Amino acid sequence: AIAEEKSAPSADFVVVANRLPVDLERTADGEQRWTASPGGLVSALEPFLRSRKGAWVGWPGVPDVEVDEFDDDGLVLHPVSLTSAEVRDYYEGFSNATLWPLYHDVVARPVFDRAWWDSYVKVNRRFAEASATVAAHGATVWIQDYQLQLVPRMLRELRPDLRIGFFLHIPFPPVELFMQLPWRAEIVRGLIGADLIGFHRPGGAQNFLWLARQLVGLEPTRGAVGVRSRPGMVQVGDRTVRVGAFPISIDAAGLDTLARSKGVVERTKQIRRDLGNPKTVLLGVDRLDYTKGIDLRLQALHELLHEGRFEPGDVTFVQLATPSRERVEHYQRMRGEIEQMVGRINGEFARVGHPVVHYLHQSVNRTELAAFFSAADVMVVTPLRDGMNLVCKEYVACRPDLGGALVLSEFAGAAAELTSAFLVNPHDLDGVKNALEAAITLDPAEGRRRMRAMRRQVLTHDVDRWARSFLQALGAEPAD
Ligand code: ADP
Ligand code: F6P
Repeated sequence: AIAEEKSAPSADFVVVANRLPVDLERTADGEQRWTASPGGLVSALEPFLRSRKGAWVGWPGVPDVEVDEFDDDGLVLHPVSLTSAEVRDYYEGFSNATLWPLYHDVVARPVFDRAWWDSYVKVNRRFAEASATVAAHGATVWIQDYQLQLVPRMLRELRPDLRIGFFLHIPFPPVELFMQLPWRAEIVRGLIGADLIGFHRPGGAQNFLWLARQLVGLEPTRGAVGVRSRPGMVQVGDRTVRVGAFPISIDAAGLDTLARSKGVVERTKQIRRDLGNPKTVLLGVDRLDYTKGIDLRLQALHELLHEGRFEPGDVTFVQLATPSRERVEHYQRMRGEIEQMVGRINGEFARVGHPVVHYLHQSVNRTELAAFFSAADVMVVTPLRDGMNLVCKEYVACRPDLGGALVLSEFAGAAAELTSAFLVNPHDLDGVKNALEAAITLDPAEGRRRMRAMRRQVLTHDVDRWARSFLQALGAEPAD
């Protein structure tokens, strides 16, 4: 329950992210309510932060509203307002039509617009100023993701007493791509304001260290960066900035417990019944984003059915797609294409009452999601590029029965950890089709062996371990 009240002015631990963990929603009848925010960042950080009673600085998800700081079950939420023009230029523009495609291997063409950049600078300054008013003297401030890369430097200028960490939740691109950005040096300087800069993979950290040398003239260490170990170091005046790799994860034990609950077990059976008890249920769960490869998994299914490698009555594909960034042009185009493909597959292969593809452009709650994961024989995760991808880890955590199989793109950060998945190159359609076939026809004993190995990894490397390893490297927490 959210109580509207003013809270204490200062916090010792502050998370700063573009979004608050809750979004303000205005219903058609003019009412306002708070709902869970979309995306992996919130899924990962919210359970962690709730356990330690910090403050969270972020945007409430709608333009042109002023909301006072309030307390949400012990977590102080400090809203930062954005105007409609800022949502257009800073959020939809520079964050999601420049940085997002640039950092995801230019899967779509990034747009470089100077007015968007100006808005990005202005909004980053507002987040830095808000963080400076919330943080107690000597506090730890943990800044999140690509929308706020200038905040570390701006905040350090305002508050040199703070311990500042930054974590990037998306891939950090190859240097050849990053160099396209007209404001590349400003971004690197912005990040270097932090004491610790974290990436999912050592490659990202290594790329950043190279840029710090080339673009800012610093002298970083040259050794290979390890996973949660051997961070690179850069001396900036009298400060040592660390640059490391910290693969993010999920609340694995929580999901494991949820998946074993009576409610989820019952709902799982119900879902399979509602789908007509097909032999095989395939599942995709994503924000509706062009990096996720939803189109190519539909194409693979279409070809498999065409080639008669499966009977349409035996296979059902469920795609849950959270609405995302709906005013950005790339997203609008991709939605149209995906919905057309769903229509096409069903048009050709469905029977009355038995669609082959069930497509829900909706967000579902955690219990419902756990039941879908439990009901799925094959989880299909095929991003063209993904920083980590939490969905595949959630699937594994929801399979204490050791059932199911995971088809996973090599280009998701999670592929380095889930090596017992059916790993695919999403650009190789025949490879994706073969992997789907192998997963669908998997021998159950082999399936259990693979799932056991993946569960060992996910259950021992959860979000708590991720956050602790980052905060220990930042010096904000004692070592184990
Ligand atoms: P991203 O951060 O790019 O959205 P991730 O896979 O890391 O990708 O995280 C996505 C998060 O959103 C996961 O926690 C996942 O369970 C959740 N999610 C995605 N689609 C849905 C949906 N349709 N309903 C509910 N939750 C969803
Ligand atoms: O890292 C993934 C991420 O981009 C988060 O930064 C973001 O909060 C989430 O996905 C959802 O996207 P958005 O906030 O643009 O709806």
